Amino acid sequence: MAIKIINCDKLKQKPEKATSFGKVFTDRMYVRECVDGKWGDGVIRPFDALELAPCSSVLHYGQAVFEGLKAYRNAKGEVRLFRARDNFKRMQSSCERLCIPPVDVEEAHAALTELVKLERDWIPTEIGTSLYIRPFVFADDRSLGVHAAARYKFIIILSPSGAYYAHGFDPVALKVERDYVRAVRGGTGAYKVVGNYAASILAGELARSQGYDQALWLDGVHRRYVEEVGAMNIFFVLDGKLITPALNGSILPGITRDSVIKLARGSFGITVEERAIDISEIIDGAKSGALTEVFGTGTAAVVSPVDRIGDNGVDYIIGEKGKVGNIAATLSKALTDLQTGEAPDTFGWTEVVCS
Ligand code: PLP
Ligand code: COI
Repeated sequence: MAIKIINCDKLKQKPEKATSFGKVFTDRMYVRECVDGKWGDGVIRPFDALELAPCSSVLHYGQAVFEGLKAYRNAKGEVRLFRARDNFKRMQSSCERLCIPPVDVEEAHAALTELVKLERDWIPTEIGTSLYIRPFVFADDRSLGVHAAARYKFIIILSPSGAYYAHGFDPVALKVERDYVRAVRGGTGAYKVVGNYAASILAGELARSQGYDQALWLDGVHRRYVEEVGAMNIFFVLDGKLITPALNGSILPGITRDSVIKLARGSFGITVEERAIDISEIIDGAKSGALTEVFGTGTAAVVSPVDRIGDNGVDYIIGEKGKVGNIAATLSKALTDLQTGEAPDTFGWTEVVCS
């Protein structure tokens, strides 16, 4: 797979500080096309609008998947990727679920490495900032039949970003969603496909209009087992134990979730239970004080403490309002130190792409 590089004549003004999430994009992007099941050579070219026909199949049926990962640059100037191959493996499984010809993991990785090296000056270095990487694949057939497309595009764009939530590492508030469901087993919840996000927007907007940050999803069948949050997996410290919903076929297998579980067990000797969690356990624990911490995990959100959960119009405060719990703080620091190269990586998750 060759990568052609098209010169970028006009470079954009870089922001002084990365304060927002996903609003600013670098000078270049990577684009690769697939025709009749064969991925062609890729090209790195100036970040610009795409040309899409009004009948492009993605606009009608949403045959599209995406990923989210990050590059970090530390004070020594080293640029690191975190578990990039795991993201591309998950992208393959999302592609397979939507009948999209999967992109080879090593080829995707090579393209990303090349792009990040070219755009390294865009990577912010302040604490809590990074280069957010958004690879995505979409169908681009010019016809209206509902079937697997013959043409696809794989694109990677880069965005220097700060915290995902506008209030940074401050705790967030979640609303238990009782009316709508995100996913069911056999559906697409365990894959990073765009339709999952379209289906979640209404509940997210309702939660926000009622003073919460995101919806906390329950399972689609029993409507009682906790699944995850709009853009994060979820953890609870209940009766002194760290627990998280088991991957049951309708939850996204988060890479941050997996990293936090391995860090908790491997570096801190914390027992982590992956199991079905009834929302009534959580509400009872919040009432009795047995629930001492709640936090979400995700690439964009990192480790996001939760200090309030609303359910059926009643708010439950977890821990001390506005304060980050000990376990969330410990795991968050350990994870970000490892990602930025501040601490040695005994898990083999990070790779230096340039320095
Ligand atoms: N769950 C959902 C629905 C997400 O969108 C994300 C973000 O990617 C996650 C969980 C966390 O996954 P990861 O840690 O791989 O970013
Ligand atoms: C990520 O954490 O990378 C995500 O994809 C979340 C996103 C939906 C903002």
